[in-house]
Amino acid sequence: MTDIVERYHIPEQHFWLRGPRSGPPVEHDATTGIWNVHGFAEAQELLGDPATYSSDTMRVIPKGLMPDAEELSLEGFITQLDPPEHGKLRKLVTSAFTRRVVAELEPRIAALTGELLDAAHERGRLELVTDLAYPLPVIVIAELLGVPSSDRALFKKWADALFERDAKISLTEPTEKQDAALRATLGPWQEMSAYLAAHAAERRRHPRADLLTRLVEAEVDGERLPAEQVVNFAIVLLLAGHITTTMLLGNTVLCLDAFPEQQKRARADRALIPAVIEESLRLFTPFAALGRATTRETELGGVAIPADQLIMVWLGSANRDPRQFPDPGVFDPGRDPNPHLAFGRGIHFCLGAPLARLEGRVALNVLLDRFDVLRTDPDDPVQFMPTPTMTGVRRLTLA
Ligand code: HEM
Repeated sequence: MTDIVERYHIPEQHFWLRGPRSGPPVEHDATTGIWNVHGFAEAQELLGDPATYSSDTMRVIPKGLMPDAEELSLEGFITQLDPPEHGKLRKLVTSAFTRRVVAELEPRIAALTGELLDAAHERGRLELVTDLAYPLPVIVIAELLGVPSSDRALFKKWADALFERDAKISLTEPTEKQDAALRATLGPWQEMSAYLAAHAAERRRHPRADLLTRLVEAEVDGERLPAEQVVNFAIVLLLAGHITTTMLLGNTVLCLDAFPEQQKRARADRALIPAVIEESLRLFTPFAALGRATTRETELGGVAIPADQLIMVWLGSANRDPRQFPDPGVFDPGRDPNPHLAFGRGIHFCLGAPLARLEGRVALNVLLDRFDVLRTDPDDPVQFMPTPTMTGVRRLTLA
């Protein structure tokens, strides 16, 4: 695995890509004040126990370190909610964002992939992220929600402001840099909320056949979603709906470049593509870490953790835990089962997983049809995103 790190100049902050860890599965970082969970079994146990490990991490982050929940209006944000509020919201949004809605997108995803590749072909070269991996998921999610996909430069501006950070979060040393970096996200956040609120209000007046309309109209037990929650959920969809899938597409091509014999196998037997996608999610886990907060004193992996502590669950490390995955640094789509945690586990399991998998499968099939071999250009080195918790290429030119 070290050769992959060197070959693709993977930055230091994606430390978990450097090979199987030798350290303990749970450890406290005295410098940052954060507890880090790296083990697969420990991550699985934690994600399955929302009563002890709350998703409402804002409650343990000292005031002044981050713009607070009110400023960001994070109230009712699905990823931050615990039971029973989480279950109620999840039921409501699931009723609007069904598997059928997603499955019906397959022909559109294939057509869009073709159009984007045609446009790149005319320009003479393919930079995978700009030409396909970014625009494809963003156009799909915008069309699904019902906001103009032509506004995607705006979405990118907001997403970059929120995610392109290399600052490390520390609870013990709220550095000026850290504070400034986090505060810089407020403006784009508010702009994005206002944009989606305007579109949601418009759908209340003039319903259409789109997800935003289904969200404003969705009812569970006679109750509708409050306007603010419609906006917050639309934000999750717009952000989670594209950045992660962009990373998945780029990382999968990278895996096939690094392991050419697996590329040959997948090309010869397209039934292997879903397993290729799963293995790419395991090896290059896009959302490398999730946050949780302890609600009481607890023990995990034999380590005592006090109440009200911030925990980072390193899905990236857990997905390379040699106790669970033999030869964890090897890209092996033949792993069966492949119980990776890239989409999380438990009540917050990724709602968009079927869409991400569909986009990955369709786009990879079209790429294999169009290119005799998928190979990175040695003269234009692959670049990774700087954010430590997000693992994805941000530039990958095909030779
Ligand atoms: C939740 C990863 C694509 C929507 C999550 C979680 C993970 C994740 C790890 C769990 C968060 C937690 O437990 O705190 C990914 C990855 C993706 C992807 C790796 C692509 C490769 C998508 C897409 C959408 C989406 C395409 C929507 C269109 C959501 C939503 C949640 C979520 C709404 C929150 C669910 C809840 O809190 O109940 N995702 N995601 N994701 N994801 Fe995804």
